[in-house]
This record gives sequence, structure tokens and C-alpha cells, in this order.
Amino acid sequence: MEKERPTWSSRVAFILAAVGSAVGLGNIWRFPYIMGQNGGAVFLVVYLGLILTICFIPLFTELTIGKITKKECIGTYEQISPKLKFLGFLNPFTGVLISSFYFIVGGWIINYIYLGIKNAQISNYESYFGTFVQNPVTPCIFTILFLFICIYYAGRGIKKGIEFANNVLMPVFAVILIILTLFSLSLPNAHLGLEYMFKPDFSKLNVHMFLAALGQALFTLSIGMGALLTYGSYIGEDKNITKTTYTIIFSDTFFALTAGIMIFPAIFSFGLEPSSGAGLVFITIPQIFAQIPHGNIVSVLFFFLLFAAAVTSGISIIEVPIASMIERCKITRAKACTILFFIIGIISIPATLSFGILGNYTIFNKNIFDFLDFITSSMLMPINALCLCLLGGWFFKIKGKDFIQNKFLANIFDIGLKYVVPIILAGLLYIGLN
Ligand code: TRP
Repeated sequence: MEKERPTWSSRVAFILAAVGSAVGLGNIWRFPYIMGQNGGAVFLVVYLGLILTICFIPLFTELTIGKITKKECIGTYEQISPKLKFLGFLNPFTGVLISSFYFIVGGWIINYIYLGIKNAQISNYESYFGTFVQNPVTPCIFTILFLFICIYYAGRGIKKGIEFANNVLMPVFAVILIILTLFSLSLPNAHLGLEYMFKPDFSKLNVHMFLAALGQALFTLSIGMGALLTYGSYIGEDKNITKTTYTIIFSDTFFALTAGIMIFPAIFSFGLEPSSGAGLVFITIPQIFAQIPHGNIVSVLFFFLLFAAAVTSGISIIEVPIASMIERCKITRAKACTILFFIIGIISIPATLSFGILGNYTIFNKNIFDFLDFITSSMLMPINALCLCLLGGWFFKIKGKDFIQNKFLANIFDIGLKYVVPIILAGLLYIGLN
């Protein structure tokens, strides 16, 4: 067991870790494809609207609760009432389930880095990707490798592991992103991609788009799993949470938009489809790399970018169960990491195989991978976020006037936290389940 509760070494380290958690596959893999499936620019308008209004509240609340209690999720709920312990338990449980499919995508990324380094010549990425994910061995090995990398950094602790990984990987991520975005913008007809992103066609507006945008907003900001609560609990004294919340929201949005500006001009320049779904990054984008000079180098850069983003987010996902195990079971970080390695490994292997030999095995008509995605993003995350808002508003009595000077805005915050956001989250949950 860790003798003293660890804290971040500085304010910058904490912000970098929180941004590292938020900026991940959600920005570069999920955001462009969800936007591509939901009509481009009009989705962006809805998404930005939600991010700039509603999302501040749950994000700020999670960080603040962590900062107040200095406990992991289960202890936080227990502090209110031992009867609520099970709600706290849902957070690390959600973390284990999210990581079990998030890390599979991490494994695919490692495979694509390897392909680029090998300079593999693949003529049809659609059939390549289809065959690859059906393979019973290779994707499993890469998933476990990705899991191992995240566990390794988390295992080294807050300062030597998590901070170190963020300090190295986040700058690398930002530099590669800028290089690739400039490259994409220099391609012929790049402006078509920008028009697709920024010229909204409001006739395409529909309810489903709001749901997709809200789900994406929660996922990309890491809300609803206790990750921010856990990171918040490592804050020492006197950290300005309001500023941190804005920094997370603005940088996450900046990186999602930049990822879009990197991806859509290239897609339009090569006359490909922006609405191809989850395969966008693994099928459509590699097709572009195959057609440009030194495409394999660009490909390695691109997938390393994804890798860097995914590792820093992956670490934050597993830190939730790790912190709970250390503090509840009174075991060392090394032991908690070892146990978690096996638990996530055991769940993620059948999920990896659900594209191949376990493809016929379905739960609620979904294969294991899709089921894990569905149960976490449509059920567990809204439930956790809802409970955390209620906890913040009604039990910890977080009040707008304590950090917002403008009285009117402070009142809006209070009403939002106690009523509006919980009702919206409950609505998301209800519609998601129907
Ligand atoms: N936000 C990360 C991304 O965009 C994923 C993530 C990290 C996450 N921690 C989380 C999602 C906690 C939900 C809950 O890729």
C-alpha cells in the first residue's frame, strides 16, 4: 500500500495529465467518424454547443469532488453513506469494461505502426483490415502489448509513470498532429474537406445527432467514469479547478477540430467517403498513405500520433480501478497493476476475438466488442455522470457562487448541476436504452 497518498508534482503536471486523459482515440478516431456519419458541419455545431454549455458542469464537478474528498470513487460514495458504496464501485467497473475495448483499438494501432515500419505494400485496406481483425492470434497479442504498456506506466506511480508518460507523449502528439495537418491542407482540393467540416447544412439536423453529440462529448472529455475524480484526488492544495476545467475543454476541442482538419481535407482530396464509420482511420486513411510518396513514413507518424494519444488516455482509464484496489484492498500499486493486467486481459481477449472466431457469440444482438462499447457509453457512463452530478449538487453542495463572481451565472450553474444536467443525462440514458 502506498504510504502517503500521492499528489501531482505541479499544477502544469496535473493539467497535462487531465488533458492527456481527455485527448485520445475519442478525438482522432471516434470524433471524425461520428461527425462523418452525422452529416459533417451541422454535427459540429451541435457538438460545440453542448461542449461549451452543458459539459462544463459534470467535468468541473468530478474534479472538485476528487479534490474535496481526496479519495478514490468507492471511498467517495462511502463517505456519504455506506449504502451508496455500490455506486462508487460502478466507476472502476466501468473503467475495466471501457479499457477492454479501448485497448483493442490500441492493439490495432500498434499493428499499423508495425506495417508502416515494415513498409508493407497493401493494395486493398478494406480486405486487409477485415482479415486482420478476424485473425485469432495477432490482434490479441497487440491488445495485450498495449495493455502492458499502459499498466507499466501506471505501475510506476503518479510522478514517475503517469506524469512521465504525459510529459513525453503529449508534446510528441502535438508536434506530429501539426505536421500532418499542414501536410493535409497542402493537398489538392483540401478546401472541400474544410467546407464539409465548417459549412453546416441545417436541414440534416435531427434528434439522433444530439444523442450522438452528447455521447461523444462525455466520452472525449473522460466524463462519467471517475477518471477525473481520481486525477482530482491527487491535487495538492490551492489548484484553480475552474481554469483547469476550461483548459481541458478548450484543448480537447482544439485537438478534435485539428484532427478533423487533418483528416477531412485528405479524404476529400482523394475522393473518398467521409461516412465510412469506425473504419475511417484504419481503412480510408491508410488508402491515402498508400498513394503518396513516402506514405509509409507518414503512416508511421500518424499511427504513432494515435498511439501517444491512446496511451495517455488508457492510463487514466486504468488508474480508476488501480486507485480503488490500492485504497480499498490495501495492496501495493504493483500488486494492483498485476491483478488488473489479468482481469482486463481476460475480458479483452474474447472481445478481440469477437471480430473472428467468437463473431457468432452475441449479447443483446451485439458482438462482445460492440456490447462493451454500448453498455459503457450508453448506460454506465451516463449513470455514473448522473450520480456524480447529484452527489456534487446535493451532498457535497458545490455552489456556483464559490467560484463564479457573476451572480446570474452562478445561479445557472447551481440549477444546471442540481436539475438540468441530471435530467439531460437521464434522458440520454432513457433514449439510449430504447
Ligand atoms: N477521453 C478519452 C478519449 O477521448 C477516453 C477516456 C479516457 C475516457 N478516460 C475516460 C472515456 C474515462 C470515458 C471515461 O479517447
